[in-house]
Amino acid sequence: MSKRFLVTGGCGFIGSHLVDYLCNQGHSVVVIDDLSSGHLSNIAGVPTMVEVIQARVEGVDFSKFSPFDGIFHLAAQASVPLSISEFFSSSSTNILSTLKIIDYSATAAIPLVYASSSAVYGNLALGDEGGGLDLLTPYSADKFMAEVYCQVAYKLNGLRSYGLRFFNVYGPRQDPKNPYSGVISIFANRILGGQSITINGGHQTRDFIYVKDVVHGMWNAYLYLLENPVATHSNLLTGNSISINKLADDLIFLTGNKVEKIYRELPIGDPQSSQGTIDRMVAQLNLKKFISLDEGLSEVLSWMKGSHE
Ligand code: UD1
Repeated sequence: MSKRFLVTGGCGFIGSHLVDYLCNQGHSVVVIDDLSSGHLSNIAGVPTMVEVIQARVEGVDFSKFSPFDGIFHLAAQASVPLSISEFFSSSSTNILSTLKIIDYSATAAIPLVYASSSAVYGNLALGDEGGGLDLLTPYSADKFMAEVYCQVAYKLNGLRSYGLRFFNVYGPRQDPKNPYSGVISIFANRILGGQSITINGGHQTRDFIYVKDVVHGMWNAYLYLLENPVATHSNLLTGNSISINKLADDLIFLTGNKVEKIYRELPIGDPQSSQGTIDRMVAQLNLKKFISLDEGLSEVLSWMKGSHE
C-alpha cells in the first residue's frame, strides 16, 4: 500500500538514497532541505514526483501538511569539526530542527526515525547501546539530546521513535570536494585524480557501512515502530572495522594508482577506534548481511570515475 513520508535532509547524501528507495517502493515523499550541503540533482532520478521544500526545518510551518505515515529526520549540520569551530550555529541548527520535528511528530502521532551517531561513544573501546557514553564534541551532544528529547516525548505523548547511531556511512553522492566529508570519498577522489592523500595517524579503525545498507536499516526501523510502541535506539554498523591505513591501501589497489601517502598526527578528539555491538540491531532491525567493503568501494569508484574522465 502506498504511503506518504516526510524526509528532512532528503537532498543530502544519505537522505537522497532513502528518497530513491521510498519512491521505488511506490510511496510519495515530501522533502525538507535547505540545500546547504544537499543538491537537487541527488534526487533528479527518482521515478515519481517528490515535493521539495527548500527551507530550514525549524522555519517550516508544519500545520499546512496533510498527514504523513512516517517521518525520517536526517537534516543536520553533520560535520564534527564544524560543530566545534561553529559551535553556536551548528548546535542551534541541530537542536532546533530536531525539536521542531519531535514536536510535530508527537502532536500528530507519526512514527519518527532519526539519525543519531556513533559519535556519542567518543573514545570508548566498544559502543554498546546499554553501556556508557563519551560525548566529546557539540555534534555528539546534539545527537544524544535528540535521543533524550525522544524519550521525553514518548513519556508525555507516546511518540514512537527510533534513533539510529550511524557508524561511518559511505557510498555514491558523498561529496568528495568537501574537506569535512567522509574519508572514503576524499581518498577515492584524490587517488582517482593521481593526487597524494593525507593519512591522519593511520592505525585508527572505523566501521564503514554502505549507504544502501543504512537505508534498509532506516526502513526496518520504521517497520519496527509500526509493531512496537517504543522510543528506542540502536547502532547501525557492519560489525567489522578496518584501519585507515588498510582503507588507503585497498583504494590504491582497486584503482591501480600508486599515489603518495603523506602522514600527519591523529588530531585531538579523533577516536583511535570505532567499534560497536550489533546484537540490538540484529534483534530489532533484522540486519545481518551487508555489502562488502570491496563491493561498496567499487561502487564509489565507478560513480566518481565520471568526473575524472
Ligand atoms: C564520522 C562521521 C561523523 C560521525 C562519526 C561517528 C563523516 C564525514 N563523519 O566521523 O558524522 O558522527 O563518524 O563517530 O562521515 N582521515 C584521514 N585523511 C583524510 C580524511 C580523514 O586520515 O583526508 C581520517 C580521520 O582523521 C578519521 C578517519 O579518517 O580518523 C575517518 O574520518 P571521517 O570519514 O571524517 O569520519 P569520522 O571522523 O570517523
